[in-house]
Amino acid sequence: MTGDLSPMDKAKYAAARQAADMVQDGMRVGLGTGSTAAWMVRRLGERVQEEGLRIKAVPTSTRTAQLARELGIEVVSLDQVGWLDLTIDGADEFDGDLNLIKGGGGAHLQEKIVATASDQMIVIADAGKEVETLGAFPLPVEVIPFGWQTTRTLIQEALDTMDVLGTSAALRMNGKAPFVTDEGNHILDLHLQRIGNARQLALVLNQVPGVVENGLFIDICDKVVIGHGDGRVELRDINDGTIELDQSVEAGENLFSDLAD
Ligand code: 5RP
Repeated sequence: MTGDLSPMDKAKYAAARQAADMVQDGMRVGLGTGSTAAWMVRRLGERVQEEGLRIKAVPTSTRTAQLARELGIEVVSLDQVGWLDLTIDGADEFDGDLNLIKGGGGAHLQEKIVATASDQMIVIADAGKEVETLGAFPLPVEVIPFGWQTTRTLIQEALDTMDVLGTSAALRMNGKAPFVTDEGNHILDLHLQRIGNARQLALVLNQVPGVVENGLFIDICDKVVIGHGDGRVELRDINDGTIELDQSVEAGENLFSDLAD
């Protein structure tokens, strides 16, 4: 199986595994959505089965909830626990301040609620997700279906006053029909190319009637675990300003042995 994984998938796996191993017994944990988060959920499932790890998990999508349940992880609602110790999730882009673009998987609304209700958010990502300035990845904005075209016009008018390089806003599709989120909404992907002031843009977008939530995560992420294709992992903590490198690859450990045929 290892041979089947691209270097990017190996990087995602390495980051996901390292973060899942940071979860401690008894924690209330937010589970992100996407391919990197799915590796993390699988590793937590292994720990539940093999070590008897006890956690209460709040998934950020129906997809993640289904995977967690299949793996024997206890799934609860956010309202049942009220607050979380830790959320681990992927990202589409992160910058040097650990501000993020999320929502490539269409789950950023629940992801933002869950991450904000956590003592700590850890992002897991392959090294290719790091950018100097956010915006090359199209920014997802969840909008209610009612009057979505008017909402799009209002968003584009707002973008004209912002420090961005593009203003096109594409309705996300699922085949021939508009993509529908877990909350029954649609997503507009904003092709901005470069976001000069992400904090300001996040506030302005959420003022537009019809917008439910945008995919900019500002001052929400505390740590990022960056995976590389050879299994190396780097941990950056924005609060402590520290950077740690995992030495196990240099020490000859085969991180991917669990994935072998
Ligand atoms: C889903 C997300 C994902 O975390 C993001 O799209 C990254 O996905 P992947 O891990 O598959 O690259 O925000 O809404």
